[in-house]
Amino acid sequence: MGPMNSSTALERALAPGSVILGPMAGVTEAPFRGICKRMGASLTYTEMISAKGLHYNPDARVSRAMLTFDPDETPCAVQLFGSEPDLMAEQATRIVTGYGGDVACIDINMGCPVTKVVSNGEGSALMRTPRLAAAIVSAVAAAVDVPVTAKFRKGWDDASVNAVDFARTLEAAGAAALCVHGRTRQQFYHGVADWDAIARVKAAVGVPVIGSGDVFSAADAKSMLERTGCDVVMIARGAQGNPWIFREARALIERGESLPPPAQEERVAMAREHARALVAFGGEHAVTRMRKHVGWYITGMPGASRVRERVNHITSSVELDALLAEYAEYLEARGA
Ligand SMILES: Cc1cc2nc3c(=O)[nH]c(=O)nc-3n(C[C@H](O)[C@H](O)[C@H](O)COP(=O)(O)O)c2cc1C
Repeated sequence: MGPMNSSTALERALAPGSVILGPMAGVTEAPFRGICKRMGASLTYTEMISAKGLHYNPDARVSRAMLTFDPDETPCAVQLFGSEPDLMAEQATRIVTGYGGDVACIDINMGCPVTKVVSNGEGSALMRTPRLAAAIVSAVAAAVDVPVTAKFRKGWDDASVNAVDFARTLEAAGAAALCVHGRTRQQFYHGVADWDAIARVKAAVGVPVIGSGDVFSAADAKSMLERTGCDVVMIARGAQGNPWIFREARALIERGESLPPPAQEERVAMAREHARALVAFGGEHAVTRMRKHVGWYITGMPGASRVRERVNHITSSVELDALLAEYAEYLEARGA
């Protein structure tokens, strides 16, 4: 796929008013991304992938799995983290040439707050080295024929809020779209996301701006669009156990329609489908990674705490499916 086609794919995915799934390490594996895409997310992202990790250990099973897509979800954004422009450009090239037209864009992570990451100058540490951040964007953009985007935060801490200048710098370096999470690195995931920071970035740049932070309902998605003027809404934690949020947000944004939430049976059926897809994708041992998802799917439902407790001891997909089938029967008997 050539550059024209690739940028069109990204432009389509980021059409004004779109709702997309945010990258979440340990959560947004291909099967979950496929489900969200079917539910209406117009773009999905891989979990963040270490460029250095790919460079030194290109055949690692984990990286290979992270670069495997669900047939339903392509094109997908591939998110890289790192701090060395040349090395990142080289790895981006390998990804794009290896995976061809399936890659919507290479997204550079400039928002991860984790100490292990920032102590290497990666993730949100790049907000303190804007020249290096720009060098990464321009090196990757020069190397690949798909668009390059970046995801960053409001700033490092309250004393160094620089999202607007940072956004302008990255746009000038060639970023095709920018995503802003309205928290500082220092906040991690605490406090309230500052949507005004998103609005200020939107007002300062010409490329599409994706807003991120605290969208937990269709109404939140609509109000983020209205209050910030951003082009696209990203949903991360709000999609955990709730991929229906994309369908609901689109109905509200596109048609002013409020859809009813999914029925309890539908939630359990989706958890079972998700588990089957995850095991088909990651093998039998991947079933333990389903535990947290099951907990999210059944949040607030009758008997959920008992199921959650049992799910944490489950080690086989047959056992998990039987537990969820039993739970579905329990709900039916209650007349849920
Ligand atoms: C468990 C978890 C993992 C995350 N992993 C990533 C990641 O790999 N890359 C990234 O850019 N952001 C990551 N984020 C940040 C989210 O994409 C998003 O910007 C942030 O959670 C705020 O949005 P929300 O309120 O919709 O969750 C992660 C967030 C969570 C909760």
